[in-house]
Amino acid sequence: MDVISLNNVSVKLGGNNILNDLSLNIAQGEFIAVLGPNGAGKSTLLKLFLGLIKPSSGAISVLGQTPRRGNDSIGYAPQNRMLETDLALRARDVVGFGLDGNKWGFGWPNKTRTELINQALKAVDTLHLAEAPIGQLSGGEQQRLLMAQAMITNPKILLLDEPLSNLDIHHSQEIVSLSVKLAREKKVTVLLVSHDVNPLLSHIDRVLFLAHGHGAIGKPDEVITSQALSKLYGTRVEVVKSLNRVFIVGAET
Ligand SMILES: Nc1ncnc2c1ncn2[C@@H]1O[C@H](COP(=O)(O)OP(=O)(O)OP(=O)(O)O)[C@@H](O)[C@H]1O
Ligand SMILES: [Mg+2]
Repeated sequence: MDVISLNNVSVKLGGNNILNDLSLNIAQGEFIAVLGPNGAGKSTLLKLFLGLIKPSSGAISVLGQTPRRGNDSIGYAPQNRMLETDLALRARDVVGFGLDGNKWGFGWPNKTRTELINQALKAVDTLHLAEAPIGQLSGGEQQRLLMAQAMITNPKILLLDEPLSNLDIHHSQEIVSLSVKLAREKKVTVLLVSHDVNPLLSHIDRVLFLAHGHGAIGKPDEVITSQALSKLYGTRVEVVKSLNRVFIVGAET
């Protein structure tokens, strides 16, 4: 069964067409990279799955339902969210918000709660920062806390908006490995937005490339080609492969 399905979905924001006639199906346990230039609609697409934005036309189904806000089955790490610089807030509090989001702190015995938070902190290599005031943490450390916050409820779908953007190679690889593990072992469907496909290339099942309101989805070898991307962008784009890396040349950002 498809976990996410879009049928001719269009999104208009402020009078502009952001996404046009997008159709796709994503299965349980798939690990998908979402790529495309600034303003292509990558974050908009995630917000569509979260029910934060409504399509102007077309049909969308997430976990068999019309998307609604506050769904515990979806974990979301937003893009570039500056964490509160309130010094009283500790790293473990930020991760704990992932549990309380829709419940305002009810329903979790203290011991279970602490244990869940510790596990999530550990998964992103931040247990040693648990008591640190978040205002003092680096951008990359904050980024990892957002990932911990997104995965703490054991969601069926994990939507990660540029989780690698502030990370060094080591921590970037850790987030990718963790995503792979969740997809393979727990059958979590992971959509990871990125500007560089290279760290993801040997791990993802498919890529979704967005540009100019249109999308192309498929295996990296099918989508990241000069032909497919030139068609998507409507202009000449060259895909150059070298040293096991791909470079996309001529795709304006
Ligand atoms: N509420 C809104 N009203 C009007 N336009 C909007 C709104 N939200 C987003 N947009 C526009 O929609 C387009 C897509 O935005 P989106 O944030 O989805 O891009 P993106 O692919 O995530 O880009 P980036 O790589 O910079 O994060 C942008 O041109 C943006 O200005
Ligand atoms: Mg974005």
